[in-house]
Amino acid sequence: MMQSLQIKNKSTVYFDSINNLSKIRDFSNNKTVLFASKSLTDLSNQIIKILEGVGADLYVYFSDDGEENKTLEKALTFTQFLAYNDIGRNDVIINIGGGTLCDLGAFVASVYMRGIEYINIPTTLLCAVDACIGGKTAINAIGAKNLWGSFYHPKMVLVDCDFLKNISNELISEGMSEIVKYAILDGEFESFLNQFEDISAVKASLDEVIMRSLAIKARFVELDEFDRNERKLLNLGHTIAHAIEKFTDYETEHSAAVACGLICETKIAFNAGCISAKRRDAILSLCDKFLRVEIPVLNSEVISLMGKDKKNYEDKIVFSMPAEIGAIVKGFSREELIKLL
Ligand code: GLY
Repeated sequence: MMQSLQIKNKSTVYFDSINNLSKIRDFSNNKTVLFASKSLTDLSNQIIKILEGVGADLYVYFSDDGEENKTLEKALTFTQFLAYNDIGRNDVIINIGGGTLCDLGAFVASVYMRGIEYINIPTTLLCAVDACIGGKTAINAIGAKNLWGSFYHPKMVLVDCDFLKNISNELISEGMSEIVKYAILDGEFESFLNQFEDISAVKASLDEVIMRSLAIKARFVELDEFDRNERKLLNLGHTIAHAIEKFTDYETEHSAAVACGLICETKIAFNAGCISAKRRDAILSLCDKFLRVEIPVLNSEVISLMGKDKKNYEDKIVFSMPAEIGAIVKGFSREELIKLL
């Protein structure tokens, strides 16, 4: 089985135990900053012990995970910490946490001294199958998610599948929407995922599920690093998801919103004649098996919010939606969309 994944000239993803961190990379020649989630003190202490054991010059900064912390203020406070400790361009930041913490740590790494090296150690399934690779760094601003950001890749990602197997069922469910998304994009992965009865069965084979998911994402990132063409397909389900998140003032979890987006966009694709009933039913049955979804009413305000999606062009609301094989990017006018819904 594959133990590492290379993202061309950008990142190497290692599927290995955190205990092997100092064997994978040498931490003796630079200052090492741990940017770690406050809720992960045991894991952070384990990493501190490993790195102290090899004589690393360590600086530890605890931060909060969660979308509300991806702010300029938090980025600035962390930047002050780096500057006061004379962290330089040859030093390294290790982000230890979920997607929001990694987004923030990566954002600071991308702009601090015009960019210093960073490593991601994802501690949620959602981060392990999505945000930990691909180099999208971000903070939120003026009420908009990920308004500020850059493309700046981690040099290394360490995914400890044994650690992830022990996270809560809630965190496992949270990662499932993106995993189902990859199954819609890749028929081979769809057959692989379909062999599992339920989420518990997925959990038992989590290593392979994560490795295959990241391999699919890596393919799209390699084709289109800057999200102008093929990478947009990774946005499957997300036009509706982003509108729901914004409409509910970010009370709806990203994964729940994506689950809803996958289902609604599948129905739109069928109604627009882009997929057969067989393909529609296959996708809906995957969603039914692995996702818990409450479909909110897609009222005119939610549709207006879809009109603000980054993918939109001219007067079209643009979706990355299921196709008979994989996905396609397709735009509809507001009037067309209301009919399709
Ligand atoms: N999360 C989708 C992407 O990185 O493009």
